[in-house]
Amino acid sequence: MRASPPASPPSRGRGSVIGEAADRAGSVLAGLLDAARLTGTVDPQLIDDGLDPILGAVSEAGLGAWLDTVRAYDDATYQHCLLVAGLAATFGIALGYGLRDREQVVRAALVHDVGKARIPLGILNKAGPLDPAERAVMRTHTTLGHALLIETGGFEDALLSVVRHHHELLDGTGYPDKLSGDEIPGIVRFITICDIYAALIERRPYREPLPTSEALGHLRAMGRKLDPTLVAAFERAVAEL
Ligand SMILES: [Fe+2]
Ligand SMILES: [Fe+2]
Repeated sequence: MRASPPASPPSRGRGSVIGEAADRAGSVLAGLLDAARLTGTVDPQLIDDGLDPILGAVSEAGLGAWLDTVRAYDDATYQHCLLVAGLAATFGIALGYGLRDREQVVRAALVHDVGKARIPLGILNKAGPLDPAERAVMRTHTTLGHALLIETGGFEDALLSVVRHHHELLDGTGYPDKLSGDEIPGIVRFITICDIYAALIERRPYREPLPTSEALGHLRAMGRKLDPTLVAAFERAVAEL
């Protein structure tokens, strides 16, 4: 996210199918986050414009190519959301989801951190670990995003739940509502895994991305915090690439 509008993403890999798809998805994300920051609402149609490019690019060129392209984005929030969306597309394909379900998880991935549009940029883009007070502010992106979608209206419950609950953990140690076990719907568990993995493999100015095997090791080490069946399926989906 940028300090002042309009935020247009960098143009990457022009001429390649995947580069153009990433540019289109990046533009959608820029529009989504700008509207969220400036008006406190989002445009559901705009979000859906990002689905085809991501699903098409991932199924045609593969996750590895998508990750390489998207890692070229300097903006941490764009990079993160596009990584989560590519992972969600890949995971959905690996689980045998039909088009409607694949679209639903990619839509959820694109929107999951929309509340970050309302977080002060000094905290959002801080080049280093957050202190406890800053972390508390950052954590409000879940409830801020949820409120933003309620204000916009027309979003299905599953999407609202992903935006509010994607940092909840099965053992009840997550936030904002400390949900546990069956209180956390399947689509939220799915996005949470993609979200955590994306954070581990992101390129940041102050640290290198973790290699696949190490990032998957981190997911496994979270044990009962994550759905073990889904983590095992995610490992297979990512390792196949
Ligand atoms: Fe988040
Ligand atoms: Fe996230």
